[in-house]
Amino acid sequence: MKTMLSALLLAGAVSLPAGASADVLRDQALEIFKPLPSTVPAVKDNRITPDKIDLGKALFFDTRLSASGVFSCNSCHNLATGGDDNLETSIGHGWQKGPRNAPTVLNSVLNEAQFWDGRAEDLKAQAKGPIQAGVEMANKPALVEGTLKSMPAYVEAFGKAFPNEAAPVTFDNMAKAIEAFEATLLTPAPFDAWLNGDDEALSAEQKQGLALFMDKGCAACHSGVNVGGHGYYPFGVVEKPGANILPAGDKGRFAVTKTADDEYVYRASPLRNIALTAPYFHSGKVWDLQQAVGIMGTAQLGEELDEEEARLITAFLGSLTGTMPPVIYPVLPAETETTPRPSA
Ligand code: HEM
Ligand code: HEM
Repeated sequence: MKTMLSALLLAGAVSLPAGASADVLRDQALEIFKPLPSTVPAVKDNRITPDKIDLGKALFFDTRLSASGVFSCNSCHNLATGGDDNLETSIGHGWQKGPRNAPTVLNSVLNEAQFWDGRAEDLKAQAKGPIQAGVEMANKPALVEGTLKSMPAYVEAFGKAFPNEAAPVTFDNMAKAIEAFEATLLTPAPFDAWLNGDDEALSAEQKQGLALFMDKGCAACHSGVNVGGHGYYPFGVVEKPGANILPAGDKGRFAVTKTADDEYVYRASPLRNIALTAPYFHSGKVWDLQQAVGIMGTAQLGEELDEEEARLITAFLGSLTGTMPPVIYPVLPAETETTPRPSA
């Protein structure tokens, strides 16, 4: 019934009073999506405090967490460019090219699990990965702790962020502080304003695109507060994309579960700020968002979207581009004589 009604609305075949048609579409949308929370969400086992957020911000921007002293989290998750690096796949330690595209850190606290294959349960588990990954920051927990302990201002900041702990400067606490900072990176978007009742927040085309996004079945996988970020599906439910887009060597969630059914299975991507985070897919092979939408149509739904449909859906996706919280670039503690020197 709902599908029928939004199809008629789309085609302009029924005319309801403007307010009524907006309400029908909104009611349907609210069953599938949720507006962003207006405050920083609570995270498991990590009380978020202003001191922890400040420390996490410093750590996020500190290149000395990497062995070479070249890479910080912000190198690949640049907060000035949508929280990612806009590269096909990331460049890390020793100029190595990693195997996957970097997803945005914006709103990542709302994902049910982290990474394309969901292998990290949450952001504190996630943050320990890149610092140790050979192709990313190539460091060791003990060396990171040594680096942080060598700078009195960091020791003081850890003390404030983790009061009542006898030895607060630890790799685990570093990850918790980064998670606290990341939890603040929420980007309210026109779509949220519209879900919250502002009829003018979406253009007529974006509303048509939203109706299509729901009616065609995109929202079956890309739903909830992050318009994705939960649930795992084969990339190519109906038709596998070619090896140029879905390289045979990366089997996705299979590496996590070792279950044959999970070959080429990935987390349905969160789509907030998607217009800012080209190139697309875990392989980063597609630079054009409308083309990515078309590929999803054939690969996941077995449906060739016509140009107009893909254009309208892409317009709707544009309404997910949000406003970044202001992030003042931190002044970092100066290194001391005992700070380990960068290695090649
Ligand atoms: C994935 C944060 C450093 C490249 C992620 C995700 C988060 C994150 C939250 C998962 C997002 C999602 O699943 O939607 C961080 C933090 C870092 C850091 C806090 C610093 C401690 C880096 C660096 C690079 C990088 C330096 C590049 C050299 C990537 C890539 C992925 C990723 C390629 C996807 C990997 C996969 O799914 O297998 N990062 N990141 N990250 N990050 Fe980072
Ligand atoms: C990825 C949109 C339908 C599952 C993506 C991406 C976009 C998108 C833009 C790229 C995200 C990025 O690079 O960060 C759409 C649209 C759809 C649709 C517009 C409807 C036409 C579906 C359906 C499913 C699904 C029905 C589940 C059956 C996925 C998965 C990925 C993804 C698993 C990650 C692919 C990868 O490994 O690179 N989607 N999607 N999508 N979507 Fe969809």
